[in-house]
Amino acid sequence: MKLILKSFVFFIIVFSITSCGEKKETDAYGNPVEEKTETSTKTSVDPLLAKGQELFEGKGTCIACHKTDVKVIGPSIKEIAKIYKEKNASIASFINEETGPIVDPIQYETMKTNFAITKAMTAEERKALEMYMMSFE
Ligand code: HEC
Repeated sequence: MKLILKSFVFFIIVFSITSCGEKKETDAYGNPVEEKTETSTKTSVDPLLAKGQELFEGKGTCIACHKTDVKVIGPSIKEIAKIYKEKNASIASFINEETGPIVDPIQYETMKTNFAITKAMTAEERKALEMYMMSFE
């Protein structure tokens, strides 16, 4: 009796696992669903945006001082994006030292230390950083 129960439970488990796996591959009508479609369109929307994130977290070292929501050493990305949207200003110009600070001018000297990196970047890289930061609400 116990054995029957055990094999029944085993069957249920195996069945639920396999049926779960099937769901991913077929839709409600049993047609195969390509999992790739959703993610690949998302990432291919804007290669510049992805590049911006890569620079922000990598070569640009921005992430060391700028977090998404909270102020650490520098203002949060969201705060900067909000002000830059309100003033219709350009982050790409700011990090190329073409325009002055509008978010926190008192702390400007700290930000300025990073211009050695951003000014050595290409205009496209600075634009990518701007796109990435401005993509935050
Ligand atoms: C050493 C810390 C530090 C690093 C690294 C850093 N920042 Fe900043 N950043 C600051 C501080 C502090 C401020 C506030 C002063 C200011 O507003 O200029 C600031 C302000 C800013 C502002 C708002 C400027 C304004 O108008 O006031 C932008 C845009 C910005 N940073 C972008 C970047 C980008 C892009 C990077 C990476 C390439 C970066 N920061 C790296 C410290 C840093």
